[in-house]
Amino acid sequence: MPAPAERDPRMPRLAQSPGFNESMRSGWGTPVRTPVIPDGAALAAHHHRSRLSAALPGRTIAVAAGRAPVRANDTTFEFRADSDFLWLVGCGIEDAVLVLEPVPGGHDATLYLPAPARPGDAGFHADPLRGELWVGPMPGLAEYADALDIRTRRIEELVLRDGTLTAGTPAQAGPAAAALYGRSRSADLARVLAELRMIKDDWEVAELAAAVASTEQGFAAMARELSSAIEWGGERWLQGTFDRYARTVGNGPGYASIVGSGAHAPILHWVRAEGDISPDELLLLDVGVERRSGFTADVTRTIPAGGRFSTAQRAVHDLVEASHRAGLAAVAPGRPWSDFHTASMEVIAQGLHDWGMLPVSVDEALAPDGQQHRRYIVCGVGHHLGIDLHDCASASYAAYQGAVMQPGMALTVEPGLYFHAFDETVPPELRGLGVRIEDDLVVTATGHEVLSSGLPIDATGLEAWLAAARSGELSASAQEAVSGR
Ligand code: GLY
Ligand code: MN
Ligand code: MN
Repeated sequence: MPAPAERDPRMPRLAQSPGFNESMRSGWGTPVRTPVIPDGAALAAHHHRSRLSAALPGRTIAVAAGRAPVRANDTTFEFRADSDFLWLVGCGIEDAVLVLEPVPGGHDATLYLPAPARPGDAGFHADPLRGELWVGPMPGLAEYADALDIRTRRIEELVLRDGTLTAGTPAQAGPAAAALYGRSRSADLARVLAELRMIKDDWEVAELAAAVASTEQGFAAMARELSSAIEWGGERWLQGTFDRYARTVGNGPGYASIVGSGAHAPILHWVRAEGDISPDELLLLDVGVERRSGFTADVTRTIPAGGRFSTAQRAVHDLVEASHRAGLAAVAPGRPWSDFHTASMEVIAQGLHDWGMLPVSVDEALAPDGQQHRRYIVCGVGHHLGIDLHDCASASYAAYQGAVMQPGMALTVEPGLYFHAFDETVPPELRGLGVRIEDDLVVTATGHEVLSSGLPIDATGLEAWLAAARSGELSASAQEAVSGR
């Protein structure tokens, strides 16, 4: 006996009387259904599709946008489209699939998407996923075709031929799943996309710059709330402050915002934000605004919660700053990707040695089979940045770690020192101190541009910035911040 079809838990068991259904069929006007597409995104996506087409001539390609993950039972987290889909289409459309079919001279693009349930459709009032009375006016095939300048078809018409290269996140159920189910994602396509996305065009650089500018404003918003956080709200109040800001000016935070005070600062991904904030502690803030386009910033500053670095805090910050400056100086076209990592690590190893914290010589520590300094910085010193926080991760080793820098690459430089409170090799006065300085950069034709230079990287500059930000001097008007999104 065939297994009964699984019921989609997101669909409610609603009573549908004939009279009720009939009464809902008519009497409705036409709401505005224009899709929200970031300025320039449709044109940029068109160029991106052309680059992909040129990279994979003759191949059929399907990229699925995905679906909001289930949170519990019939509730979901917010939908965030697959990054490759965003790059190729220009906006997120839940359950949609982009297909590129080879034709002489290139590819034809078709966007397959679910039709919304509008007045006159059975689901208009009865489908909580697509019914406009549940989710609000929804752009459909015609509106997306207009706004994105692309051919659209209903998702039910999607048929994929054998040999199609697939990427993205297929929906877990529904017609898109029927077409994509059982196809493993193509590692080749993921690699090609990652390597194409590695070089940002002018529109992408502008998106990153805007994400960083908003993030700097988000730092100022946190600084203004610091007194409340110290008095009663703790780490979570600052996390919520940044997230609310990011949500207002963009999609929201580009990753779980890290707010780590005191002994939490050395914990690389401290996203629990469960702690209090005490004025004598260092406060590590690692946050980024994600724009509507999906591009995210990734910026870290470590500030003294009370306004002034102690001697020990300043010493650690100074060493990380020296390492950071060495890393920045190694970012230029033609330089090996690994140079900034090496340059930053050399400064860290030497500093730790000078403090008597290395069990071996600096040279031994820096040798490939040494690396003892990395006890205090177990992560890398930076990564590509873009629509993904850790962008282009599917690129080959040769194209990423083994590559030379090229104009248009965007990256972070983010050395740090992480002295855990329970690390018995750390001098007692340094235990529980964590410092990271993280900037976002773009490689230019002649060197690099630091996008996040609006925030100081030196201890004295940070003290001055913090004082100005707390007094409200650095706040953009809310209207100014929102108008740029
Ligand atoms: N916030 C994660 C990272 O810096 O890579
Ligand atoms: Mn980072
Ligand atoms: Mn970060």
